[in-house]
Amino acid sequence: MKHDKSDKTLHDRYREMAEGFWDEEYAQGRFLDMPPDPFVADILGAAWAHGLLPGPGIYIGVGNGRNYFPLVEGGLDLVGLDISAIGLAAIRDRAPGHYARLVHGDLSALPPGETFPVVVGLNVFHHGDRDIAHAHIRAALECVAPGGLFCVRVNAAGTAPTRPTEVAAEYDDGSVTRRYLPEDGMPPLLSHFFTEPALAGLLAAYEPVLPLALDDTDIATGAPGDWRRWQGVYRRPA
Ligand SMILES: C[S@@+](CC[C@H](N)C(=O)[O-])C[C@H]1O[C@@H](n2cnc3c(N)ncnc32)[C@H](O)[C@@H]1O
Repeated sequence: MKHDKSDKTLHDRYREMAEGFWDEEYAQGRFLDMPPDPFVADILGAAWAHGLLPGPGIYIGVGNGRNYFPLVEGGLDLVGLDISAIGLAAIRDRAPGHYARLVHGDLSALPPGETFPVVVGLNVFHHGDRDIAHAHIRAALECVAPGGLFCVRVNAAGTAPTRPTEVAAEYDDGSVTRRYLPEDGMPPLLSHFFTEPALAGLLAAYEPVLPLALDDTDIATGAPGDWRRWQGVYRRPA
C-alpha cells in the first residue's frame, strides 16, 4: 500500500477510526484489570544501566496507564502521548496533578525535532498496515536523543489473534497485515504482524541493548499463549 498526497485523507480517516475505537474501549474499562507487561522491568533496568534513570522520556501510545504508571514510579518522567483522550483522562483521574505532561495526539503533536533520552512504544507501532507501522517506527526513532534508548514491543507474525480477522496483505519479508472483521461493533482496523528481520532492519542503525526477543506470555495466566510479540531495547549511537 502506498501513501502519497492523494490518500492522506484516507490516512486521516483511519486515524479517526482508531481514535474512536480506543476511546470506546477505554470508556468500557479496557486494560483496567490487566497487569503491566513484565518488559517494563527490563526497560527500567536498561535505563538505569545507561545512566538515564531517573530522567525524562516519552511513552508513545500510553493508553490508560497500565504500563505508564510503573515506568513513572520507577523513575522515568514520561510524556504520555496517545490519540485517545479517554485513555489520557483515565490517567489524569487516577493521579490528578501528579503526571506532568499528557499529550493528546500522535507524534505530529510534538514540537518538530524534539528528542528524548528514553522513547517507549509498547503495543502501539503495529497499528495499521506495513507502511503505516514502519513509518511510525521511523518517526519514533527520530525522537530518540543521541545515546538514548528506544524500547519497543509489537505484534509478531505467527500470532493467532483472539478476535476474528482476515489477511489484508502479505509481504515478501514474511510479515502480514490483518484486518479485524466487523463483529461486536469492531471497526475494520488493521494490525501488522512483524517478522524479526523486518523489525531488526528498521533498527539497524541502533545498538542492541536487549536484542529483539519473542514473548508469547499470556499476561493473564503467565503461561505461553497464542499472542506473540517482539520486544527489545536499542540504543541510538551517541
Ligand atoms: C493496544 S493499546 C496499548 C496501550 C498501552 N501501550 C498498553 O500497553 O497498555 C494501543 C494504544 O495506542 C494508541 N495509539 C494508536 N495509534 C497511535 C498513534 N499513532 N499515536 C499515539 N497513540 C496511538 C491507542 O489509542 C491505544 O491507546
